[in-house]
Amino acid sequence: MREPDQSLTTYSEMGRGQTVEPCTLIIFGGSGDLARRKLVPALYNLLLDGLLPERLAVLGIGRKPLSDATFRTSSREGVIAYSRQSLVQSLWDRFEQSLFYLSGGIDEAATYDSIKKRVEQIETELKLPGHRIFYLAIPPDSIAPACEGLRRAGLVHAPSESKPFCRVIVEKPIGRDLASAREINETVGRVFDESQIFRIDHYLGKETVQNIMVLRFANSIFEPLWNRKYIDHAQITVSEAEGVGTRATYYAETGALRDMVQNHLLQLLCLVAMEPPNSLDPDAVRNARIDVLRCLRPIRGQDVQRFTVRAQYSHGTVQGVEVPGYRGEPGIKPDSTTETYVALKLFVENWRWAGVPFYLRTGKAMVKRASEIAVQFKEIPQVLFNANPAMPQAPNVLALRIQPEEGVSFRVISKVPGAKAQTHPVEMNFKYGDVYGAPSPEAYERLLLDVMAGDASLFMRRDAVECSWAWITGILNGWEAEGLKWLPEYAAGSWGPVEADRLIQTDGRAWRTL
Ligand code: BG6
Repeated sequence: MREPDQSLTTYSEMGRGQTVEPCTLIIFGGSGDLARRKLVPALYNLLLDGLLPERLAVLGIGRKPLSDATFRTSSREGVIAYSRQSLVQSLWDRFEQSLFYLSGGIDEAATYDSIKKRVEQIETELKLPGHRIFYLAIPPDSIAPACEGLRRAGLVHAPSESKPFCRVIVEKPIGRDLASAREINETVGRVFDESQIFRIDHYLGKETVQNIMVLRFANSIFEPLWNRKYIDHAQITVSEAEGVGTRATYYAETGALRDMVQNHLLQLLCLVAMEPPNSLDPDAVRNARIDVLRCLRPIRGQDVQRFTVRAQYSHGTVQGVEVPGYRGEPGIKPDSTTETYVALKLFVENWRWAGVPFYLRTGKAMVKRASEIAVQFKEIPQVLFNANPAMPQAPNVLALRIQPEEGVSFRVISKVPGAKAQTHPVEMNFKYGDVYGAPSPEAYERLLLDVMAGDASLFMRRDAVECSWAWITGILNGWEAEGLKWLPEYAAGSWGPVEADRLIQTDGRAWRTL
């Protein structure tokens, strides 16, 4: 038997063989939370795992007046607090020499001239070849001035074999409806070519999410069953224990549908429902994903009442801690109608999935943090072992646990030992921790590495972003027409509102308890 190839790191490498070259990463929003909690720790972990190019520079750009030294200290604190692997001082001492900071306003033309000067100086000092990645971890209304500023300062050039690469990473939210998403895409597209743009949906970088494709297409037992003939329905749950926390300003304008469903949950759905791509080429994979979005049956107008439930958390206790109701959270208006929970029933109208419901739910301040995709197979005929109709036999369920206890479980029916023909459901359980030991890499590690390698498989193409916004905007418009002044409530620390239970119970099904 051939030895498995364990050296592959990106989809491209699986398919084509790419290398990661020395480059400069310029982070707009460099003094922000994302950089401190996710980006710098991700780079540090890539370094520890020997995956970073041998030379790299990071230039943080932000309004806060920090020096290189204070940026390095704050980055080190970020690594200590949030890194997957602990800080090794000797490695850090070397790594921090590649961290730099420049303060400047995004709206000020002078900022971009300073960036240019600083980047060129750093690249000369560190003997970097001029490959650049601009990371836009900034609010949507800053994207246009940032792109324009970069262009005017001559920091962007068209893709060319003879020039160093120049790429841009765009963080969510990419819009708040179809029109604003198009506007952002237009703005970025005026300055960068689509092949240079990497739109992040960090769920696609999660190890367990990447495993969905492998599980489906690298195992011969699932694919023949993966269709309307054998699957009864699927459930996608992303439940969070945290409330709005310190993000009230952002969240009040956003809500669960825009914040979680438009991107993360729909991308999970795409991976579960997509056809096998014809290769691992980034565009082949992205085409397969977007085809699912194109087949979504619209939920518009009064359909929102039948197919969607939105709700807000009320006062309750989450994991022993008392939580105020959403309307009592600091920074939230007492008459806010922003949803903190949403449940949907949707259909993917194609040959494979016709008639199979997909139930999606996500919420904040719920019982616990737990994300899972569960595929429930059809019942077997009610004869033999389950002849008692009052005691229907539990169906087979394949559950892909995304987080926090990453793994896959499969419910099968087994005989209870003894003289009687009695059956019992049992779980076959695969836990990442048991098999692979160390915690999986963080999503941002994988995604940053892929941008350096130029592999866009795990990023959102413009058409996919707009396609999912088009579908979501139908629901948003339906909700707006309803004009609700009060949303249904669920107690913080519960599994969501009774209305969501009814949504699925009407079909004779139930949400899984995770
Ligand atoms: C972000 C949302 O995109 O994803 C947050 O804006 C949410 O509201 C977060 O908490 C969840 O990500 P994760 O990786 O913690 O499941």
